Amino acid sequence: PDEMLVDGHGRMLNYLRVSLTDRCNFRCIYCMPPGGVDKIPHDDILSLEEIARVARVAVAMGVDKIRLTGGEPLLRRNLPVLLDKLSSIQPRPDIRLTTNGFFLSAALPWLLAGGVSAVNVSLDTLRPDRFAAISGLPPQAGPRALDAVLGGIRAAVAQGGLRVKVNTVPLAGLNDDEVADFARLAAQLGVAVRFIEYMPVGRLTRYRPERFISSDEVLGRLAALGSLAAIDHDPADGPAQRFALPGGRGEVGVISAISSHFCATCNRLRLTADGRLAPCLFSDETIALRPTLRSGVDDRQISALLALAARRKPSRHQHQPADVAATGCQMSNLGG
Ligand code: GTP
Ligand code: 5AD
Ligand code: SF4
Repeated sequence: PDEMLVDGHGRMLNYLRVSLTDRCNFRCIYCMPPGGVDKIPHDDILSLEEIARVARVAVAMGVDKIRLTGGEPLLRRNLPVLLDKLSSIQPRPDIRLTTNGFFLSAALPWLLAGGVSAVNVSLDTLRPDRFAAISGLPPQAGPRALDAVLGGIRAAVAQGGLRVKVNTVPLAGLNDDEVADFARLAAQLGVAVRFIEYMPVGRLTRYRPERFISSDEVLGRLAALGSLAAIDHDPADGPAQRFALPGGRGEVGVISAISSHFCATCNRLRLTADGRLAPCLFSDETIALRPTLRSGVDDRQISALLALAARRKPSRHQHQPADVAATGCQMSNLGG
């Protein structure tokens, strides 16, 4: 068998996050600068064949979960073709998607047919008057975009067959008064809403430390709803600490990426849209895979680079909320 993907700190990496495109129809303020980022030249973006090949090699090394991210992954053309290739890998990996939800309704039938098991939808406000400011859209486009995203979430729940989670980044003065409303949405739809601590990722994005809200503050605001029952942490939960809601339907979670980082149990490796391996979300150093992929080598060399990226994985990140966007990769190229 191939070498397994174990890092230098004894962590088994079984989860590959693949950014399919750096493009996005939104410009969320915590992710991108207002004008967006320079487009990666088309030729530098991995082809679907190249992505599938890396995935196949990674699966042979023990990866069993693949999350497709972006930018906005649903903007990637011919995505059903990639899903087809990924679901024919043996043993078949669990395929998940993280999306802004705008194009979700229309994509649902082929996502399900393509073997996607779970979708995480980013949504930061339920207020039509706030949506545009947080998502970087022209003001008049906000209400319609919010409707599209909410419609996508509802349709995904109604369709069944997909696990649905909502990701919310609470930001002081922008949406932090909506924490309880999001918990009500979780109860109403029977889904998980996770509150993610605002992280300083991407040199080009202006990090605003004064907007940081800790998970403890979020839990304080949720206390108004009644007592939350902590759900025992299962390694499969990933970074979220989960809580059942009082009515028994839906759940909330917090992802405390800054205040209480979960690096010790990190199982992830990331592939950027332009074919670099990022050992950590906060990596400055990435490992170039594209030149090797395109030089006609056999899979063993791909495998060696995956193993190298694993060995370069730091034991933990060192970021504090007060750090200002110092990391080398933009979120839109890393996929969160
Ligand atoms: P599942 O467990 O498969 O649902 O995935 P997930 O929760 O990791 O996926 P998602 O794409 O929804 O990510 C949720 C949030 O957690 C995003 O903001 C990520 O940036 C953050 N996150 C995911 N992995 C890591 C990580 O390794 N380190 C840090 N610091 N944050 C992470
Ligand atoms: N801090 C916290 N979460 C972020 N995301 C993107 N940028 C940041 C950031 N700076 C979230 C998105 C998406 C997930 C993949 O990462 O909202 O839900
Ligand atoms: Fe687009 Fe997601 Fe970044 Fe928002 S967080 S700009 S939806 S890639």
